Amino acid sequence: MTSVAEQLRLPKEPSTIAIIDVQWGDTGKGKFVDVLSEWADIIARGTGGANAGHTICIGNRTHVFHLIPSGILRDSDDKMNIIGTGVALDLHILCEEFDLLELNGLSFDHLRISRDAHVVLPQHLLFDRLKEASLGGKKIGTTGRGIGPLYGDRVARTGLTMLDLLNPATFRTKLRRNLDEKAYFIRCVDPEMAKAVMGHEHLEKGRFYHPETIFDQDAIIKRYLQYASRIRDMVCDTDTLLRQQVGKRNILLEGAQGVLLSVDHGIHPHVTSSDCSLAGLVKGVGLREKDVDRVFSIVKAPYMTRVGEGVFPTELGGERSEEWCSVSGQSADKEREAFPAASVNSDDPFEQGIGVRQAGNEYGATTRRPRRTGWLDLPLLRYALQFAGQELILTKVDVLDTCERILICNAHLYRGPIYDMGDYVLHPEDLLVKAIPNSEILRHVSPCYQDFPGWQRDISGARTRADLPLELLDIVSFIEKQTKTAVVAVSVGRERDQTVYL
Ligand code: GDP
Ligand code: IMO
Ligand code: MG
Repeated sequence: MTSVAEQLRLPKEPSTIAIIDVQWGDTGKGKFVDVLSEWADIIARGTGGANAGHTICIGNRTHVFHLIPSGILRDSDDKMNIIGTGVALDLHILCEEFDLLELNGLSFDHLRISRDAHVVLPQHLLFDRLKEASLGGKKIGTTGRGIGPLYGDRVARTGLTMLDLLNPATFRTKLRRNLDEKAYFIRCVDPEMAKAVMGHEHLEKGRFYHPETIFDQDAIIKRYLQYASRIRDMVCDTDTLLRQQVGKRNILLEGAQGVLLSVDHGIHPHVTSSDCSLAGLVKGVGLREKDVDRVFSIVKAPYMTRVGEGVFPTELGGERSEEWCSVSGQSADKEREAFPAASVNSDDPFEQGIGVRQAGNEYGATTRRPRRTGWLDLPLLRYALQFAGQELILTKVDVLDTCERILICNAHLYRGPIYDMGDYVLHPEDLLVKAIPNSEILRHVSPCYQDFPGWQRDISGARTRADLPLELLDIVSFIEKQTKTAVVAVSVGRERDQTVYL
């Protein structure tokens, strides 16, 4: 069998490759990191935290990783996985992942963790969840993993790193200082709500709760020192380690989330709190952009998804879909019961959106929330590609196998009020080929669609270009032309080998 290195014509000499999601996450990065980890000697994550959910399917086994790089399934003496400095390190989730790997008889002996990664603590989860609850209809729809407050502490210079945890005296002092700084907010929180959140299983069912002070500092210190002792031997200066290997070994950088969710380049306020672009990823592992030789931008196509709140111009079913997906406790079963006839060919776009969700099993890998579905949006893709890479990998293409008619959005027609853009003024009926990453503007655009006939046949067994239907190849070349970017692979299923290299 031809190796992935040959299929993707990777350089013969040692090189560095990055995988970047150029949408709103969940494009199938995990699958491709796993696939490329056949080639890689070192696989590193540098952004996000346990908000990520990267799925890898091998036969009848499904693995979902939140923190551990997706290369871990090939752990061996000649490969290393790294959790880099930019990662929001949730030790509770990390230890759960260790337990799961052990349970499945899988090794993580060659995992290394940055000593400078910031550690997610109970207060981050509490503040994340209380803030979302207090925002009601204006919430972001976070994953509740404490990501915003963790990166907030880092920027405010009050965070704690893995190195602090290895040194108990420092940990105690810094933890007290961190909580003291939050004392005012802690006094203001609704005690019943705080108690309910602190009783959640992600917070070890009340282990860290104190009825008067909300946080039981001694319980936190005791537990987190236990975590620290479990991972102690994996902790090192991963930035230097990786830097020394550039040009000497094959390095694969695993992006998390997606460019449209980036705190630096995404569409505020519905973003995460790390930079999901190539620049953010390399920084999060201690490298520079010029250290990267090839960048694969992962694109779900010809549909796309988003989980959580925020603008989504091509969403099937529009606001009705957004509202439906944000109802708490929503599930695949409930949807099937409520809309038994929903399919990828439903006439009603809302039901068609449900049909696409069901066909693609688009339910969050981290929160199980239904992912909102819509058509591929090229103006957003053109925008996002500026912060990612030169080559596209299209994923989940098989999901639309039975779809009769496929739409691709090629431009945004602005229909909002006159809008001052600083150096120019945006007028109603202006046509935008590249999206403007601003919620107020995107809320007022109408997608201009190009129509394509569906291929209407099972492509899950396709392995070469010749196996792909002409209708699909037309769509692929349209995307290439419109984005001026080459498509190097098309993913036609969850499994490692369900990929067509072009
Ligand atoms: P990530 O966060 O980008 O790694 O993506 P997720 O794991 O959150 O979601 C992608 C889902 O799609 C996972 O369940 C994958 O197993 C699945 N998947 C990946 N590629 C394909 C594909 O080409 N076809 C199908 N049908 N499923 C895929
Ligand atoms: P992977 O790596 C999809 C979304 C959340 C929410 C927003 C902010 O699996 O692609 P946060 O908890 O980060 O503060 O939430 O970002 N989000 C993701 N959506 N995939 C992800 O990761 C995501 N990580 C965060 O749904 O809208
Ligand atoms: Mg995911």
